[in-house]
Amino acid sequence: MAKGIGFGKVILFGEHFVVYGKASIASGISSHTTAELVPGTEPGFKIIDNRNTAEGYKEKYAEAQRESVIRMNNAVWNQDFQNTPVQVTLAGDLYCASGVGASAANCVAMARAVSQHFNLNLTDEQINQCGLEGDKAYAGTPSGIDNTCSTYGGLIFFRKNMEGGPNQMDKLTLGKPLHILLVSTGVTTKTSIAVESVRERRALNSKEYDAIFDEAEEIVHQAKDALANSDLERVGQLMNYNHELLQKIGVSCEELDYLVDFTRQNGAIGSKMTGGGMGGYMVALFPDAETQEKAALACEGEGFKLMRARIG
Ligand code: MEV
Repeated sequence: MAKGIGFGKVILFGEHFVVYGKASIASGISSHTTAELVPGTEPGFKIIDNRNTAEGYKEKYAEAQRESVIRMNNAVWNQDFQNTPVQVTLAGDLYCASGVGASAANCVAMARAVSQHFNLNLTDEQINQCGLEGDKAYAGTPSGIDNTCSTYGGLIFFRKNMEGGPNQMDKLTLGKPLHILLVSTGVTTKTSIAVESVRERRALNSKEYDAIFDEAEEIVHQAKDALANSDLERVGQLMNYNHELLQKIGVSCEELDYLVDFTRQNGAIGSKMTGGGMGGYMVALFPDAETQEKAALACEGEGFKLMRARIG
């Protein structure tokens, strides 16, 4: 049986702004999606989706998932699944909801499994290209940050190349690990809808948005320094500030704001929405593992699904 995995991701700074070539900081997380591939019994590319997901997630993305396979096949695999059918089973410990790179993770996992099964020997760069092509079915014009985290893992500084050449990806190292929680609102909104809504509002308010986008870029540079200096208090402040900017461009929502406040009240030194927003996940940073665990139990006590993660 051929197997592949794709990591989930967390954007710590710069989602949405990154689509327009602004800087961002993100990390792969250990939670991942797995793809197990065997020869199929009927023509085509059959997917059995056993991933643990938010309610309505699979239905909402079923069409995009089918399209992502066609895109990856056209761009990189070039296989004839009518004559050499396959069956792919998706699973893993990534709780799939908007905001943690679940779509890129399932594309990367499938690409790795297809590569192994058909002996394509795809390089990480080609797997990353599959992730980007596949993610277009979900996100419209993805910046590339999700598939990059999903393919390579680790903490990165990322900037999309707006001319179409290779994106900037610099690995970052940390003096102190980051203890974070990723808490799901339970609301699923397509990333493409959130990205499009920003595009529309930006077109109507270009002056105001340009200023916000410049502030977002500045936050990322300050965050990069704070991370390098292990100044977690400052990292937390900048996350809070980043959340305010995301509120200003209209991609937060009541459920996200509630969780941002709730985690702050429960010991977070910084919290913000993460990913596309309008639902999905938020991320909270804690000073240590003990505070992280206390807050996790408080969120779970309120019925929220979450993932505990350690970066670095
Ligand atoms: C989605 O995880 C992050 C966004 O910035 C979209 C993208 O970068 O493609 C909202």
